Amino acid sequence: MCGIVCYKGSLDAKNVIIEGLERLEYRGYDSAGVSLIDNGKMETIKRSGKLSNLKDTLKDYKINSNIGIGHIRWATHGAPTDINSHPHLSNDGNISIVHNGIIENFKELKDELIEEGYHFVSSTDTEVIAVLISKYYNGDLLEAVQKARKDLKGSYALGVLAQSEPDRLICLREESPLILGITDNGVILGSDIPSLLKYTNNVIYLENGDLVDCKNGYTIYDSNDNVVDREIKEIKWSLEDASKEGYDHFMIKEIFEQPKAISDCLRNKVIDKKIDLGDASFSKEEIEKINRIYIVACGTANYAGNIGKYCFEKFTQIPVTNEIASEFRYADPIIDENTLLILVSQSGETADTLAALREGKKHGATTVVVTNVVGSSIDREADKSIYCLAGPEIAVASTKAYTTQVMSLYILALDFAIKTNKISQEKLDDILNEIIKLPQKIQEILDNTDIIKKYAKEIKDYESVFYIGRGLDYYSVIEGALKLKEVSYIHAESFAAGELKHGTIALIEKDTPVIAVATQEKIIDKTISNVEEVISRGAKVFAICGKSCEKLEESSYIYYRLPDTIDSLYPILTVIPEQLLAYYTSLEKGLDVDKPRNLAKSVTVE
Ligand code: M6R
Repeated sequence: MCGIVCYKGSLDAKNVIIEGLERLEYRGYDSAGVSLIDNGKMETIKRSGKLSNLKDTLKDYKINSNIGIGHIRWATHGAPTDINSHPHLSNDGNISIVHNGIIENFKELKDELIEEGYHFVSSTDTEVIAVLISKYYNGDLLEAVQKARKDLKGSYALGVLAQSEPDRLICLREESPLILGITDNGVILGSDIPSLLKYTNNVIYLENGDLVDCKNGYTIYDSNDNVVDREIKEIKWSLEDASKEGYDHFMIKEIFEQPKAISDCLRNKVIDKKIDLGDASFSKEEIEKINRIYIVACGTANYAGNIGKYCFEKFTQIPVTNEIASEFRYADPIIDENTLLILVSQSGETADTLAALREGKKHGATTVVVTNVVGSSIDREADKSIYCLAGPEIAVASTKAYTTQVMSLYILALDFAIKTNKISQEKLDDILNEIIKLPQKIQEILDNTDIIKKYAKEIKDYESVFYIGRGLDYYSVIEGALKLKEVSYIHAESFAAGELKHGTIALIEKDTPVIAVATQEKIIDKTISNVEEVISRGAKVFAICGKSCEKLEESSYIYYRLPDTIDSLYPILTVIPEQLLAYYTSLEKGLDVDKPRNLAKSVTVE
């Protein structure tokens, strides 16, 4: 999982590429590199570590180039060293490659190429591509790339240069994302929208198998080497939307954007107090045909799916299984044409979720995606798409995508319920009235962070933190624990509060930090009893409470009262203090909040 940026035009290619790579740092940051052609000579400069290492090195080079390829890496094959960094060169140094993805048959190809007399200096799969293209190269880079791609198996987005053809840039995509941006003075290709935005709002979402030959303008070829036309789309995001706007980190900016994100998310789904999902709507007949729903996703998106499962079962009475995407496709799921598969993915590029979608389609399921990225791979392949409209999410830790995913699933479930008469109009109106108040309630939480900062200071040196809750609160603490783990590196574990006495409570001792969520009226007494159990064993409890748990005000170490809402909507509020706690704890520890170690924003490998 890496990012690439390639440029050909009249501007300084080095600057365009480095600026693009800066916006892709969330995709990987263990090394970076560029190849630039200056006056017929190709220079390749690469460094392990963060992009800043490469930028420092580039200061020593006087390169005047209008064509180049760049890469930011998150290692999949080979350690993050200078040698393994991209670009990779052919043995004669003529061909240079940047690659995002994985070449599955690289070992076989490498063995064959070694037998033919080629050699390799890195332990990456990518070097094989450079060598393979050079093997087929006979003065025409397009022809060589088209031949080489036929030998490759796997997922890849590539940028290719040949020193012998200094005016030509070739890029192609197979499974891994690649977007072509068209500017007045050239073309820029990148792994996502923010990497292009400074230079253009006009883009082409390349389709699988598309190859772009940038020589005189650009020509797109499909996987059968036929020239094809692809529609140019206008991106509405501004560069400002994708930058920090005065916040210290993207994560806190994105947490604070949630009132707006929820409003935007609702804007195209609830019109005049009526649900209208436009092209993503299901008819009554389509809904009545569905006898089983799978929600499939990874990480935080999967945890949003937990809430989705609750909503669908509560409002529609259709049985729902919420599955981890990497498990789903190998678990022989029971799928037929009466199955609805709901994929949830912020990026719309997560490899396991995409694979699950394809598996579902293969068996006849109807597919609908809840995604934040219009034009992403999953968006394009699903039958219907519901957009979160959270705006670009840059921090690795997902925050506003989660709340808008939950909101989108909630609205879809309500739409199913009203169309099949599982819910009365009156009840729906009541719920919608509560929903539209959520942005204001989130804002109230965001205006009340002092106590969360205080607790963050206290837990920062602990090795373990526990999260407990019941019912929907249990689903919410699963997400809260993941947030703390990924940005603070503290071991955080979530438990269904009623399960504590079956083992986990043995871990509770004096001052053990426990975050307890207690919002669900139906089971509030039970939850309170479970919280009291850990308090009596010395736990330092941060209680995140709804309207009916005042009892914890006295006994807990910190009592955090959420604004009132209905039980089923609390998950959208409870997660906000959880996100803030994770952020402030990471900050207290002086960690790289937006780019936690070992993680990348978009996981485009299985
Ligand atoms: O782009 P996706 O929503 O498909 O990504 C899924 C997960 O990789 C993602 O939610 C991940 O768990 C986040 N880092 C969590 O904050």
